[in-house]
Amino acid sequence: MRKLLFVGSALTIALSSSNVIADGKATYDASCAACHAAGVAGAPKTGDSGAWKDRVGQGMDVLVEHAVKGYQGKAGYMPPKGGFANLSDDEVKAAVEYMVENSK
Ligand code: HEC
Repeated sequence: MRKLLFVGSALTIALSSSNVIADGKATYDASCAACHAAGVAGAPKTGDSGAWKDRVGQGMDVLVEHAVKGYQGKAGYMPPKGGFANLSDDEVKAAVEYMVENSK
């Protein structure tokens, strides 16, 4: 029991540590690909440079803000953090960077 408690708190520390580098691809695969891989519900497809060109033109800050806070656009509705409220802003930002990097 003691050991379990220890493992539990070590994990909590690891998860809440700001030193953890957000893994954009892992977040994207788990939380964003459901819509953005195939372009579900109007989501701009990852890898479709035409769909991303004008969006990227808004600047990274705007894209990240729309991804974190949610965004109703002409194509559809982007839920805040893709509907995964447990994601940190940094994780969402890393996922946006991953998507943009792979949509050029
Ligand atoms: C339920 C489906 C869905 C999920 C899940 C989802 N998105 Fe989206 N996303 C959308 C739709 C639809 C749009 C297009 C909105 C529009 O422009 O009309 C969009 C647009 C965006 C944009 C462009 C915003 C802009 O200003 O043009 C970014 C960036 C983005 N999503 C990031 C993410 C990230 C990061 C995740 C994962 C954490 C994610 N999305 C998960 C549906 C989704």
